[in-house]
Amino acid sequence: MSCVYNEVFAEGFKMIIGVPKEIMNGEDRVAATPETVADMVGKGLTVLVETGAGEGSFFHDPEYVSAGAEMVSDPEEIYQRADLILKVKEPLFNEAKGRSEVSMMHKGQYLITFIHPAAPPNHEMVKEMAAQGVISLTLDGVPRISRAQNLDALTSMSTCAGYKGILLAANYQPSFMPLIHSAIGRIDPLKVLVVGVGVGGLQALATAKRLGAVVYAADIRPMASEQATSLGAKPVELGVDPEKAIGEGGYAQALPEDELVKERAALAQVIPDMDIIFASALVPGHLAPRLITEDMVKTMKPGSVIVDISIDQGGNCEITPPGKVEVKHHVTLVGIKNIPGMLPKSSTFMFAKNIANFVDFLVKDGQIVLDRSDEIIAKTLTTIDGEIVHVGAREAMGLA
Ligand code: NAI
Repeated sequence: MSCVYNEVFAEGFKMIIGVPKEIMNGEDRVAATPETVADMVGKGLTVLVETGAGEGSFFHDPEYVSAGAEMVSDPEEIYQRADLILKVKEPLFNEAKGRSEVSMMHKGQYLITFIHPAAPPNHEMVKEMAAQGVISLTLDGVPRISRAQNLDALTSMSTCAGYKGILLAANYQPSFMPLIHSAIGRIDPLKVLVVGVGVGGLQALATAKRLGAVVYAADIRPMASEQATSLGAKPVELGVDPEKAIGEGGYAQALPEDELVKERAALAQVIPDMDIIFASALVPGHLAPRLITEDMVKTMKPGSVIVDISIDQGGNCEITPPGKVEVKHHVTLVGIKNIPGMLPKSSTFMFAKNIANFVDFLVKDGQIVLDRSDEIIAKTLTTIDGEIVHVGAREAMGLA
């Protein structure tokens, strides 16, 4: 089924793209760079950018103006005028305005961003978007197929999170990461365990290896473990049945509870020996599997660090504080949700290109064409016509 949503697009109309400044605490990224603005303007689109939106990622207002953007100081005006909103993070409560970003949106308006609609903290916001009649597409749903590669912002952001997440772990760790030979003798390198060696995990592993750590990898897909081994990691045998681990398209699939019990038992054996755990296990579109229990954290050495990048989907460790860094049982737990935002120039450069490619894919002759039979649309579409249509979100909300 292919439909052109043209109620909002009159004859001779120029579609308006809105790029608000991100409001999440510490979020320095922005959804468009001067380069991508110039590209969209060159294709006949009008682009509104909030004043100062790119400052945190070192893209300044005069560069956006030269690229053809119209700078707007009030985010409410952007939400009011735009047909399509491009954002980095899910809609949040705007303290300065005293109202939520969703409440500023309107019926028939499109939104492309990371929504993480299956995550319980986002359920209310997703319901509100549906009620407002917003047509939202979530970037975490982009399938990993070759024609979607150039719009796969999750892959780009996972690359950033893998690299920067390990740098954070090294920073919070009270000890040297590499082997050190000094006059007082030899100091052994730290041991890093990566749980879930997909895109983010492999980047983390490679970064930890470059910093001189001894690296271990645990994944339920044998292919992922092989890739990790080729990067120099020691594989951790999880004892999970591969038949139950691999689903459609070679992706991991959500394990039944009895397999998860086996996996937790296998991890519990190695965790006491680890100095850093980088947790990035995920089955796309689902809640992150709970793999590290509070009791397992208690077995870690004082000063150990867990960086849980699956926190947007609920986290792999049951006591990771969402959006925060806390020390519990002498272990530093990093639940920062926007790690790529701590690498703002590179992550914005990658994100803005991905989202501009998404716009290119959606817009035909200046109008959005939503072909719901297309896998990319089917997997990213979250709310439309007042309904929540995202499968993972419906499952997590008990609507499936
Ligand atoms: P991916 O799909 O490439 O990798 C996930 C890996 O987890 C796969 O290799 C899969 O086989 C494995 N896995 C699934 N279930 C498992 C289980 N029970 N035990 C062990 N391994 C299992 O995903 P990607 O792109 O690396 O993203 C990982 C996570 O990082 C996601 O939750 C994503 O949202 C998050 N992320 C967080 C960021 C942040 O700033 N906090 C930024 C970017 C990504």
